Amino acid sequence: MTDAIRITRTSRRKERPRDQDLAFGTVFTDHMFVADFQEEKGWYDPRVEPYAPLALDPATAVLHYGQSLFEGLKAFRGKDGRIRLFRPQKHVERLNRTARRMCIPAIDPDLILRSWTTLVDVDRDWVPSAVGTSLYIRPTVIASEPFLGVRPAKEYLYYVILSPVGPYYPEGLAPTRIKVIDQYVRAVAGGLGEAKTSANYAASLYAAEEAKHEGFTQVLWLDGVHHKYVEEVGTSNFMLKIGDEVITPPLHGTILAGVTRDSALVLMREWGLRVSERQITIDEVIEAAHRGTLQEAWATGTAAVISPVGELAYKGERIVVHGGKIGELSQRLYDTIVGIQYGAAPDPHHWTVLVE
Ligand code: COI
Repeated sequence: MTDAIRITRTSRRKERPRDQDLAFGTVFTDHMFVADFQEEKGWYDPRVEPYAPLALDPATAVLHYGQSLFEGLKAFRGKDGRIRLFRPQKHVERLNRTARRMCIPAIDPDLILRSWTTLVDVDRDWVPSAVGTSLYIRPTVIASEPFLGVRPAKEYLYYVILSPVGPYYPEGLAPTRIKVIDQYVRAVAGGLGEAKTSANYAASLYAAEEAKHEGFTQVLWLDGVHHKYVEEVGTSNFMLKIGDEVITPPLHGTILAGVTRDSALVLMREWGLRVSERQITIDEVIEAAHRGTLQEAWATGTAAVISPVGELAYKGERIVVHGGKIGELSQRLYDTIVGIQYGAAPDPHHWTVLVE
């Protein structure tokens, strides 16, 4: 589909929050992007229209069987006033990878990118400017056919909404307290773990709630078969430094291929660090902590950026990481990535795309 995107502007603009009041994902902008899919037509009628509730038949397939996908990326306003998307191509590719796994028809990559740049341009006044704030872009595809049989739907809705956001965790860059989960599992090899689809997040809620009631910020998932290999932290990828080795679990199908994960790996390899994408057991992590070689741990994600881990709790034992403070490498990664995102540092990999 190469259609032009039709734009209908709202006549009732909302009040915008102040940058310092922004939390994560609570406020939405004036417009949304929408396109439809029908088997006979393919994806059609791409448009920007006033933000409004969706009218869905109660039989709509996504409401019953969860056939859906979403993405999450950000637009940043730099000190120069220009607006940049961070690595949108990676998100386009991942969106269509998830679509394939979820039996959702692929969307033309050029249309996906234009849906983001056009919508952000229409709502450009909503992009906040304080460092640590951004405009979160949430593309979503849902099976919109009203039908109760279990098969891929024949109709879909692709929509994009925007939310001006502050830090994902209310504590900002402060180190998080993480509970290692050995009783529930999030994903198994061959399942949906690497797809950005609602089912993975539904699967994570129960353990995350239990952990929150116990005073933890997030959970660290272990693999679904042996319950011993470290996988990912709640909504983010997990990395740690033991001695001079930086370790992160490999992309074997059970964890999300994070864009911030990839960015951090590229940077650390350029900095000459020894970086391993390898399996690591929770016992190896605990032993390293006991030996004093566990130097730092952190999570990476679009929403969370770089989120240092200050404490890990496993089987009743509490391990304090880096004295409960942010480590040098986590801080360097945060500063470098944020510098590129806001256009304050050179962008040698061309990770940012201007919205002009
Ligand atoms: C992201 O980091 O963009 C996510 O999608 C995580 C979460 C808010 C679901």
